Amino acid sequence: MTGRLIFVLMLAFANAMLATSPSFAAEGDPVAGKAVFQRTCENCHAVVIGLNKVGPSLWNVVERKPATVPDFAYSDAMKANKQPWTVTALDTYLADPRGDVHGVKMFFKGLPNATDRANVIAYLQTLK
Ligand code: HEC
Repeated sequence: MTGRLIFVLMLAFANAMLATSPSFAAEGDPVAGKAVFQRTCENCHAVVIGLNKVGPSLWNVVERKPATVPDFAYSDAMKANKQPWTVTALDTYLADPRGDVHGVKMFFKGLPNATDRANVIAYLQTLK
């Protein structure tokens, strides 16, 4: 009897945990993503319109065509990249920037952690 009650309680607990825990893959957390951005991207990228650093401004980058920020000297490889920066394209690129679009001048080893990538992309989505 007690065993059965405990079992039911455990099930209820597991359900509650599933309902409240953040989903891992697709949905990123923009607040955590901002911290990732400040740690790993901000040296090279600003997030305001028109401010280019070592890299182009990343304001409104999600769904945008690559190599379209004015007054930024992109590599030929990036200019030849015609695939818009969808969430999936960004995820592939950020996992291995130099492996994805050959010859890019973004000297950055990438974000190996999928959660970091999802979070930073969620943050980029807020920049518009
Ligand atoms: C060491 C400097 C550096 C770091 C660190 C860096 N980037 Fe870049 N990024 C660049 C440069 C330079 C380019 C332009 C690449 C080219 O033209 O080949 C670029 C290009 C990009 C582009 C394409 C922009 C466009 O207008 O098409 C995106 C998106 C991007 N970076 C995202 C990120 C994110 C997100 C991070 C952090 C996780 C990051 N980068 C870290 C230097 C950097």
